[in-house]
Amino acid sequence: MSTIQDKAETKVGVLIVLTLMTVIWGGLAQIVPLFFQHSTTEPVDGLKPYTALQLEGRDIYIREGCVGCHSQMIRPFRAETERYGHYSVAGEFIYDRPFLWGSKRTGPDLHRVGGRYSDDWHRVHLTNPRDVVPESIMPAYPWLAENELDGSLIKDKMSTLAFIGHPYSEAEIEAAPAALEGKTELDAVVAYLQALGIHVKQRR
Ligand code: HEC
Repeated sequence: MSTIQDKAETKVGVLIVLTLMTVIWGGLAQIVPLFFQHSTTEPVDGLKPYTALQLEGRDIYIREGCVGCHSQMIRPFRAETERYGHYSVAGEFIYDRPFLWGSKRTGPDLHRVGGRYSDDWHRVHLTNPRDVVPESIMPAYPWLAENELDGSLIKDKMSTLAFIGHPYSEAEIEAAPAALEGKTELDAVVAYLQALGIHVKQRR
């Protein structure tokens, strides 16, 4: 007697089609609901798009490859929440394009580093980590303090993000270059770090 199972196991074409159908259905069942769940599509309370200065800081974080050593994704495990604070939730990343979750932790996770140290601590640390953490293996970034910010692209960056849905007003975009005037790359990176992960209450 030839059952469906016999056919699937003896005819490789049928097996491939059935396998594909199963995988596609399973994938859709997992992914499609995420587009309609508020917890994955709505920003958490109080979350705002990055200011001009924070946005520049984020771009420098990308340029310098900080993501190669630092994740920004606290997983819901005791060992992580005890060390870093509340685990990361989807609604905190609505204005992160691209995400900087990372996958390598040579240094600590940075998702809840906002507010943990003073601006001055970060300035010293980024200029030479060994001055505040003697055993640190993090590279020094002394040029950040020397380089003035180049604000020539900030309006374009913000209008592009506004176009894809970040709620920047015309006035904010117009005022952006002035907000960067006289600031260094270090000011921008520190402003960005201090804004990370501050909207979900820490459990520490
Ligand atoms: C080669 C790997 C490496 C790179 C690249 C790197 N870091 Fe680090 N970072 C570390 C290590 C290791 C530590 C832990 C020791 C310390 O505090 O200096 C650390 C610590 C930190 C801390 C303190 C975190 C905490 O909770 O105590 C901050 C903030 C930080 N890094 C920011 C940055 C930024 C911003 C960049 C890019 C400009 C960067 N790091 C690039 C390895 C790295």
